[in-house]
Amino acid sequence: MTVAVIGANGGIGRRLLSRLERAGHDAIGVVRSEDQFDAVQDRGAEPRLGDLEGEFAPALDGADAVVFTAGAGGSTGWDKTLMVDLWGARRTIAACEERGIHRYVMISSRGTADPSSGYEPLRPYLVAKRCADDYVKRSSLDATILRPTSLTDEDGTGRIAAAFEPAGGGPDIPRADVARVVVACLADDATVGHTIELYGGETPVEEAVHPEE
Ligand SMILES: NC(=O)c1ccc[n+]([C@@H]2O[C@H](COP(=O)([O-])OP(=O)(O)OC[C@H]3O[C@@H](n4cnc5c(N)ncnc54)[C@H](OP(=O)(O)O)[C@@H]3O)[C@@H](O)[C@H]2O)c1
Repeated sequence: MTVAVIGANGGIGRRLLSRLERAGHDAIGVVRSEDQFDAVQDRGAEPRLGDLEGEFAPALDGADAVVFTAGAGGSTGWDKTLMVDLWGARRTIAACEERGIHRYVMISSRGTADPSSGYEPLRPYLVAKRCADDYVKRSSLDATILRPTSLTDEDGTGRIAAAFEPAGGGPDIPRADVARVVVACLADDATVGHTIELYGGETPVEEAVHPEE
């Protein structure tokens, strides 16, 4: 499968490119600057330019699936959160529909089930992510929404806890394990239509994300 990763230079994105290559997929790494091309190629992916605040849709050409793991980050303002995390995500969903790309994996966030009760300084971010989630749910795409808790840069363990209903909290999760979850979901069509909270845990990733019958 050809998988376009939006946010390919990010913490999850970089790890995901390597894991996609190991799983035998062709990856397209969508980044904002040509300075990031070498890093994308080093991870076995084809680099393409795309800016969620500008032009990015041609970078998705030829993809069978799109993973959204971009984000404005905590050091920008809420204006960027709106333009990237909400509107940028929404534009990627529309671009997939226009191009006939059906499979989509959204990296959302824990806390988006009820942004009003989330950690107060993060509520605008949680609202933006929730609105993007709602948009993908209403789209025609075969989407899986992943809602990880706080991310770490520790080595992955290949083991997590997955909750198909809001769980309220749990241990932090390494970005490496979230990347592994994405690849597992792409390989498991039963995850389409599901929203899954992700925490650190003890269940092998592929088992954890497979919904019970
Ligand atoms: N941090 C957490 O604890 C946490 C928890 C739950 C969910 N999440 C979500 O998980 C996802 C990945 O998190 P992360 O920490 O791995 O992300 P990250 O390292 O902050 O990477 C985000 C990427 O998005 C890219 N980006 C920003 N604006 C863009 C734009 N206008 N056009 C295209 N790309 C753009 C950045 O590009 P540059 O490299 O050029 O800056 C960066 O590579 C995000 O959606 C985040 O909201 C994070």
